Amino acid sequence: MRLSTRHFLQSAGLMAAGLLLAACGKQDAPAPVAAAPASAAAPAAAPPPPPAKVYVVGTDAAYAPFESQNEKGEIVGFDIDVMKAVAAKAGIELKFVNTPWEGIFNALGQGDRDMVVSAVTITDERKQTMDFSAPYFDAAQLIAVKENSKVATFNDLKKLKVGVQTGTTGDEAVTKLLGKTSTAIKRFESTPLALKELESGGVDAVVADNGVVIHYVANNAGSKFKTVSDKSFVPEQYGIALKKGNAELLAKVNKGLADIRSDGSYDKIFAQYFGAAPAAAAPAAAASK
Ligand code: ARG
Repeated sequence: MRLSTRHFLQSAGLMAAGLLLAACGKQDAPAPVAAAPASAAAPAAAPPPPPAKVYVVGTDAAYAPFESQNEKGEIVGFDIDVMKAVAAKAGIELKFVNTPWEGIFNALGQGDRDMVVSAVTITDERKQTMDFSAPYFDAAQLIAVKENSKVATFNDLKKLKVGVQTGTTGDEAVTKLLGKTSTAIKRFESTPLALKELESGGVDAVVADNGVVIHYVANNAGSKFKTVSDKSFVPEQYGIALKKGNAELLAKVNKGLADIRSDGSYDKIFAQYFGAAPAAAAPAAAASK
């Protein structure tokens, strides 16, 4: 009787402990289930906490006013401001990494960069190996020559030495004009290097994006350059490049771009760098003519 009572008490104790454990287990288990609907409902009330992911953005920061490094070594420019505004709308975090133009698309393809914002012209050829956001800037090639140059058209470059940045649309245009095997094409790592060569007389002309050429000429009066435009240069548009197939990020970026277009912040950034509203250059304005 005493034994059996002890047994009973012992087993009762064990049972109580077991019940407690089971109760704890039961309490633990429903907790995450209960939390799920709460967090799913949260975005409506409050913004979600900042995502852990920081997207790495490659840019060849030798391309003022689109991307360059200031005295502090910070990467600044029109592209950077646009990208930051897009990221703020899209709720994503960015880190800009100065990346040489020559390896920039490889870095994207290999996943070393999540995006490239670098005054990149959207071309059919590039579209085969990368995805592009909606266009965010209209551009064209422009010729830089010395003030006393007789060059008046693109065709006039046929017998001259022409500097370009390797692998750019300027390189493509000049290669088409002078031929693939032409030794008159001098290719440089960066556009400023090509322009320096024009100053020292190593080349007779440079063909590069209009915004960069205009900025350089305006800020280097001592170089005594002038610009020559030509109707044969096809209209170009810049896009943010992404690794192929990242539909989710692409959608966020495009939504962000649309948002900064519609709320006027794109226009503000544009005016800050180019001193006027982009209406004249915007594709929408061209289409409505
Ligand atoms: N828009 C031209 C292209 O896509 C030149 C861009 C060069 N950009 C730069 N940051 N260096 O080919």
